[in-house]
Amino acid sequence: MSNKQFDVVVIGAGPGGYIAAIRAAQLGFSVACIDEWANEKGGPAPGGTCTNVGCIPSKALLQSSEHFEHAGHAFKEHGIDVAGLSLNLPQMLKRKNTVVKQNNDGILFLFKKNKVTFFHGRAAFGGAAGAEGYPIEISGPTTETINARQVIVATGSNARALPGAPFDEKLILSNTGALAIEGVPARLGVIGAGVIGLEMGSVWRRLGAEVTVLEGLPTFLGAVDEQIAKEALKLFTKQGLGINLGVKIESVTTGENNVTVKYTNAKGEAQEGTFDKLIVSIGRTPNTNGLNAEKAGLQLDERGFIAVDADCKTNLPNVWAIGDVVRGPMLAHKAEEEGVAVAERIAGQHGHTNFDTIPWVIYTSPEIAWVGRTEQQLKADGVAYKAGTFPFLANGRARALGDTSGMVKFLADATTDEILGVHIIGPMASELISEAVVAMEFKASAEDIARICHAHPSLSEATKEAALAIDKRTLNF
Ligand code: FAD
Ligand code: NAI
Repeated sequence: MSNKQFDVVVIGAGPGGYIAAIRAAQLGFSVACIDEWANEKGGPAPGGTCTNVGCIPSKALLQSSEHFEHAGHAFKEHGIDVAGLSLNLPQMLKRKNTVVKQNNDGILFLFKKNKVTFFHGRAAFGGAAGAEGYPIEISGPTTETINARQVIVATGSNARALPGAPFDEKLILSNTGALAIEGVPARLGVIGAGVIGLEMGSVWRRLGAEVTVLEGLPTFLGAVDEQIAKEALKLFTKQGLGINLGVKIESVTTGENNVTVKYTNAKGEAQEGTFDKLIVSIGRTPNTNGLNAEKAGLQLDERGFIAVDADCKTNLPNVWAIGDVVRGPMLAHKAEEEGVAVAERIAGQHGHTNFDTIPWVIYTSPEIAWVGRTEQQLKADGVAYKAGTFPFLANGRARALGDTSGMVKFLADATTDEILGVHIIGPMASELISEAVVAMEFKASAEDIARICHAHPSLSEATKEAALAIDKRTLNF
């Protein structure tokens, strides 16, 4: 029997892969998508890192833990007294798992709706392309070889372990373990004050853990605008996150029920911390495990990413790669944009991903969101710019919400007034940043935003006011 033949085969059903598969099917191709992720019953769990152990479960726990913290403190200010408050962690984790499953099921439904054939198993290149395309071998719950005229590799990334301290997911946790701790640890250590460290550290601090964050770099959130990062460090420290910068980890040793980290602090002094759990969040590495890339001659770069050009083309004809497994920010929406663009390129269209307008969000409280360049980048690039900021303290909606920390900051070209960067720390920054993304996509000026009518009272008025601040014309501050 000859192999099943597909126009497009997508390897990986994370946000990059499943979106690429759907877009390719919409464009009229016969499409297969293969993913190996299994749920606790061994069934398929498409959605990748993002759905299973990333964006979705982390945001579910961030929401639940924020409710818990608000019920404990913030509600009081609103005149709501909560008596007998207690944490039901098993229910919180169960709800998180339900949210994940809803997303897994949603993707399977979308595959059916769009006539994408889904295979549950691990995909590997079976060799070079023949007359019928590339043979792709599937193993696991499904065992089959299919042929692909075009291949899109979207195999994502894995957590990077600290040398000498492999993840056991009991004491030394990656993002997977960090999202499934069954009892609130009294003392939680976090190595790496990046996005995962701050989000997961926030979750467990809100639920009662004493959190110590150990960061190697001397600066806090180096990729974030300095003014915003400074504000964030102040607010997170006030919340009780113990953030230590400029540390050097010397050793990590596990005991029966705890883990000891020896490190040198910024002053060069030897320190030691013993924790009930340790989250290691020091970045992620591209995942090409088991793909058999060498067999097909697929080239990786020196850091292990699949080497691609600006259009996500690999060195092999008709083989593309997208998302975390290629260069660029490791973000779900970046993976999705590349997925759509590649499907459209396969169809002969001109798909495009604008790397200059990819928004970043850190879902702490307050949230941090930005798009475009930071003030320090503009200085380094020698660009003459104007800056305008507006604090949420002066925003009526923020005051009504009882959530007034942070600010919106606009950076615009000194001559043309074109918006070059927008940086927000404050309530709903993740939603507010979209206006800035749209503005930058359309090459708007700060004056354009300043002249647009924004609903009152709304947090978005802070965006308009920050744009007005560029020319020192704020109306409410
Ligand atoms: P992945 O989502 O990693 O998916 C790859 C898939 O391919 C997996 O399902 C894997 O099982 C499968 N696979 C790999 N190899 C094979 C093979 N050989 N055969 C078959 N299947 C294979 N990003 C955001 O934008 N917003 C957030 O809020 C956010 N939060 C995050 C929180 C955490 C804790 C983490 C860890 C990440 C977060 N991210 C977030 C990053 C985001 O999860 C990734 O950028 C995104 O998942 C990348 O998508 P992808 O499709 O490239 O890969
Ligand atoms: P990260 O790159 O955000 O942060 C890693 C931090 O660890 C850095 O500050 C780095 O200086 C530090 N570090 C590295 N090695 C160290 C060492 N040996 N000792 C001490 N500190 C060390 O990586 P993270 O948090 O693991 O997240 C991985 C990626 O996942 C993110 O970069 C992001 O792309 C994605 N993500 C996105 C989220 C979002 O969009 N909200 C949420 C979570 C993850």
